[in-house]
Amino acid sequence: MNNRIAGFKQTGVEPEEQDLLDNIDKQKLPRHIAIIMDGNGRWALQRGLHRSLGHRAGMESLKDIVNFCCDLKIEVLTVYGFSTENWKRPREEIDNLMNMIIEYLNKELEELCQKGVRVNPIGVLQELPQKTRDTLANSAAQSRDNQGLIFNLALNYGGRLEITDAVRAIATAVENGCMQANRVDIATVTAHLYTAGQPDPDLLIRTAGDSRLSNFLIWQAAYSEIWITGVLWPDFRRRHLSGALVDYQRRERRFGGLQK
Ligand code: IPE
Ligand code: IPE
Ligand code: MG
Repeated sequence: MNNRIAGFKQTGVEPEEQDLLDNIDKQKLPRHIAIIMDGNGRWALQRGLHRSLGHRAGMESLKDIVNFCCDLKIEVLTVYGFSTENWKRPREEIDNLMNMIIEYLNKELEELCQKGVRVNPIGVLQELPQKTRDTLANSAAQSRDNQGLIFNLALNYGGRLEITDAVRAIATAVENGCMQANRVDIATVTAHLYTAGQPDPDLLIRTAGDSRLSNFLIWQAAYSEIWITGVLWPDFRRRHLSGALVDYQRRERRFGGLQK
């Protein structure tokens, strides 16, 4: 019982949820959780609502999940908010998503800072609308010295582009004589990614049931445990994450080695 999440008895928690919390081993938590927050559109469609209302409802899920990660003292949470491929969507939806990012941070930044969260936007931010960039830059600056959860917000993020940018930077360093080509190794590439210095995701979650990475953290997820749920992102809450954690803790991570 010692390793379990003691002191987690919260009022208003359903008995099944408490069971799940009791079953989480505090010593075996992932250091880094990554989430593909998918299914907002389907959630809205099922209710005959505009897709934008699905994205809006998804903000509540994000709030709950970030709070839960803080409670659990997770080191890093990375969420996929907008991919480099999402520009293919209708202009109206893109505008809506960009405004939603501003709204989310304006609403949540104070509480995030109170909880010690460091907001760390990752992706090609220069291509985002100026107002969104300003809000992101301001949130990052205001929360820079916080010591709690590192909250990577992946926006205009694509794994292939991230690796390509790293390769370009390394090639430039070689060209300038600052680096030797035969010294370039896995650690060199890793150190040039947006997540440099952070542990790789231990647990990668995708909501809404599709079994693909959609260009998310393709380098960093080499040995992540993948957990897919049919639950749509706007319905996803800490009890679902608890279920994912219990499942994660039952798995044996071999990293290419043999069973212990
Ligand atoms: C995820 O929900 C949010 C983003 C990709 C920005 P979707 O908008 O992809 O929802 P579905 O997949 O259409 O249901
Ligand atoms: C992945 O979801 C991107 C985000 C959640 C931000 P998509 O909805 O864009 O993925 P695909 O198109 O189904 O692969
Ligand atoms: Mg989708």
